Amino acid sequence: MAMEMGYVLSLLLSLLAILFSTMSLIQKKSSKNINKKKLPPGEMGLPWIGETLAFYRAQRKNQLFEEFVQPRITKHGNIFKTRLMGSPTVVVNGAAANRFFLSNEFKLVVSSWPSASVQLMGMNSIMEKQGDQHRCLRGVVATSLSTAGLEDLVPKICNSVKLHFDRHWQGQDTINLFRSTKILTFSIVFECLMGIEVEPGMLEMFEGVLEGVFAPPIKLPGSRFWRAKKARLEIEKMLVNVVRKKRKEVEGRLEGEEGMLLSRLVAALVRGEISEEEVVDNVVLLVFAAHDTTSFAIAMVCKMLAHHPNCYSRLLQEHVEIKDSKRPGENLTLEDTKKMKYTWQVARESMRLFPPIFGSFRKAIVNIEYEGFTIPKGWKVLWTTYGTHYDTQYFPDPMSFEPSRFEENIPPYAFVPFGGGPRICAGYQLAKLNIIIFLHFMVTCYDWSLIYPNEPITMDPLPFPFHGMPIKMSPKLL
Ligand code: HEM
Repeated sequence: MAMEMGYVLSLLLSLLAILFSTMSLIQKKSSKNINKKKLPPGEMGLPWIGETLAFYRAQRKNQLFEEFVQPRITKHGNIFKTRLMGSPTVVVNGAAANRFFLSNEFKLVVSSWPSASVQLMGMNSIMEKQGDQHRCLRGVVATSLSTAGLEDLVPKICNSVKLHFDRHWQGQDTINLFRSTKILTFSIVFECLMGIEVEPGMLEMFEGVLEGVFAPPIKLPGSRFWRAKKARLEIEKMLVNVVRKKRKEVEGRLEGEEGMLLSRLVAALVRGEISEEEVVDNVVLLVFAAHDTTSFAIAMVCKMLAHHPNCYSRLLQEHVEIKDSKRPGENLTLEDTKKMKYTWQVARESMRLFPPIFGSFRKAIVNIEYEGFTIPKGWKVLWTTYGTHYDTQYFPDPMSFEPSRFEENIPPYAFVPFGGGPRICAGYQLAKLNIIIFLHFMVTCYDWSLIYPNEPITMDPLPFPFHGMPIKMSPKLL
């Protein structure tokens, strides 16, 4: 028996030895192959950890560009390599690089999210889809935001904003603006876009999931990720019920009769084009995609308006004229929102200076030749908004707030708060309407001022105003 054990053990050891030597041979061969090519300049830092700590430190202070990206651009140029969170990564900057990498989604690169995000959003969300499945889901979202869809959305958003002011602003003299816009954005996505009624406790449940989206995926009881996973299970239960109820409704409906986004997703489910899990995962994803981004954009517009009284007066004038053209109580129309040209310039300029998403990661699916460098298959690529938003080549005097610069044509792929290429933000139109309609009611109904005019912006990893941007406000005397 002892002899047999010894035999098995020595067999195992020899197998392991063969395995290790084959692996190291493969590794040596592939690193030799990579060495033959010209990798971009830059430092890979410590093994595995690379330059992750420097990246996180800069991100936390909202100094990712100033402390991480810019010094490396100065040292190595617009394309440099580093190692972040265990992955060799090439950071690319500039409009040409944005165009190249964003428009080559699925051909040269695919979007690459952290493991926690994928587990919490679900494997079936649009961000994990490629090719035809991606096109199918985008199609469903796009039809809800087509011109006909937008015409219906405008009065719905107006009603949501008015109701929000009645419930949360009336009778208050201070309010946490960032929190307030998060509550509002949540109900706009749910009620106006998807057609799901918000019930008490839903926002907290969703925020529980969002908290873990960028956390380390450690399933230890009490960890951020573990709590988020629990919240995700609760949401799943709730959404499965909502979807099954909607399914009965959709099945009993006349063919061709369309509805809001949830009805359209469920109709695709009934036609067998998507699964129940896909419907649930995409509802969660849409909330994640819309929530902090739109709220942060609104908060930054308000910050900029408070600091630039001339811009504020011009914006206010635009809204007073629109309001004066309406009968009392009459809702805005899509046509009215098209008149909010200066407001949209202000919003774009605020998102240029304070992009809600600093950029995102891709993964090379083949060896990529770009600008004389090779980006090996499997490496990550990080495109950033800062790489163009703060560049004098595209935006003269880039650190100054000049909304009217958007009167001129901006070179393609230079202004990219919503990304670009096949994965350009699917909710761009909704975000725009949400921002400008909120501002319409805020500036025409309230006088307001920032409590901390120089409140710092921090990131974790999405940006947010450190104190939640409290404002003092009072109803406007007409
Ligand atoms: C100011 C607000 C917003 C900003 C700045 C923003 C920004 C972005 C960016 C940069 C991307 C591309 C990410 C990448 O390339 O990896 C993206 C994708 C996406 N956004 Fe937005 N977004 C906003 C609001 C919204 C809203 C309101 C919705 C929908 C309700 C939405 C839905 C999506 C979806 C579904 C995707 C994924 C598209 C795909 O993978 O094909 N976003 N967004």
